[in-house]
Amino acid sequence: MSDRLAINGGDSVIDQSSARFEWPKIDSEAEKAVLGQLHTSISIYDRSGVIEEFEEAFSKYHKREYGLLSNSGTSAIFSMDEAINLQPGDEVMCPVYTFHATVSPMMYMGAVPIFCDSDDEGNMSFESLKSKLTNKTKAVIVTHMWGVPVRDIEKIKDFCEKNMLILLEDCSHAHGASIYGRKVGSFGDAASWSLQGPKIISGGEGGIMLTDNKNIYSRALLQGHYNKRPLQEIDKDNPLRDYSLTGLGLKLRSHPLAVALALQQFRHLDEFIIQKQKYAELFNEALSAYEFITVPEIKPNVQNSWYAYNFKFNPEAAYGISREEYVDALVAEGLVEVDIPGSTGVINELPLFTNPEKIIGRMYHGPLVKQTGFTNAVKFQNSIIKLPVWATSNDINIVHAYIKGITKVSNYIRKNKSLR
Ligand SMILES: Cc1ncc(COP(=O)(O)O)c(C=O)c1O
Repeated sequence: MSDRLAINGGDSVIDQSSARFEWPKIDSEAEKAVLGQLHTSISIYDRSGVIEEFEEAFSKYHKREYGLLSNSGTSAIFSMDEAINLQPGDEVMCPVYTFHATVSPMMYMGAVPIFCDSDDEGNMSFESLKSKLTNKTKAVIVTHMWGVPVRDIEKIKDFCEKNMLILLEDCSHAHGASIYGRKVGSFGDAASWSLQGPKIISGGEGGIMLTDNKNIYSRALLQGHYNKRPLQEIDKDNPLRDYSLTGLGLKLRSHPLAVALALQQFRHLDEFIIQKQKYAELFNEALSAYEFITVPEIKPNVQNSWYAYNFKFNPEAAYGISREEYVDALVAEGLVEVDIPGSTGVINELPLFTNPEKIIGRMYHGPLVKQTGFTNAVKFQNSIIKLPVWATSNDINIVHAYIKGITKVSNYIRKNKSLR
């Protein structure tokens, strides 16, 4: 193969059609699971059947008492926010670098997100959080971004305990990840996962919340369910039970077909993680050779879920070639899944968080105080390049092709100090 780059008219490393990341894998086992459910039940009113099976299995895996499925990860986060009884004006410390849905649902309750800066892995840093405590702070929510467990989670947990704050976790990228010998989602008072689209465990759409706290569970239940489930599950002496017939007015129930698919995926979660880790190690081995690339750290006491593999690109060490030009060159080689994340990123300037009064005037009477200065998060956002991490041993050829493509372009840069 010539080393002429595809952007300069050379042959590409891989044919685009075979370079995709297709997830979840719809194999015969997945088809069987969904078809089986189709003939069993497509609407489940109470905690039974596949709903019960998933909630039981997922809670047990995380050593948590209660599990509550819902129709999306956003709904699961919304249910957590309702479950902790957020009030207008309550402050919640949030990561500034995340997908907006970590934060958006709390705006319905009139809460005030207080954004915190990131560490060098893109996760909320304790350093940033600790100075933001006020007498209005009620809770902290963290996101284990891209499947990397929050390095400061124990410090954040201690801080929450000392200051009587509720700790919530958004684990939407981090199914099966662990740190300090514990699964993510087992540190907070409650935790949520998305089961949507390309998530490691996917039903197409869906979400789940876990907690050990029966009161949190009961309120969350009323947020998205009415009648049978609350009647069956809210304790007889709990005044919340009076609201069983209506719940809180919403229906956020999950679809049994989605849950059947997610359950079939979940049974393979540990295998996926082991395989993903192997591929991440291969990427690290190959990419760490280049002075303009910083690879993610693989640490002995941490298991990433590898929802994505993010490496950092430094244009100064790459003779001024920009990250965008580098990505264009890789995509031209057929590496079509190489990406600069768009909708996930630094969120403090989104209109919902700066001017909620214009759209939810009933909760906010004016703009929120402008929050700026998130230098680490901005730096992280502006340096990363994202790769998917394949999850089965059959994907080895595609992983090798991606490594070949990155190596080809990177060697070219080294040799020619340019892309042309
Ligand atoms: C970090 C994070 N939180 C929450 C969500 C919301 O999940 P869903 O799309 O299932 O509502 C997502 C979705 O991508 C996410 O990435």
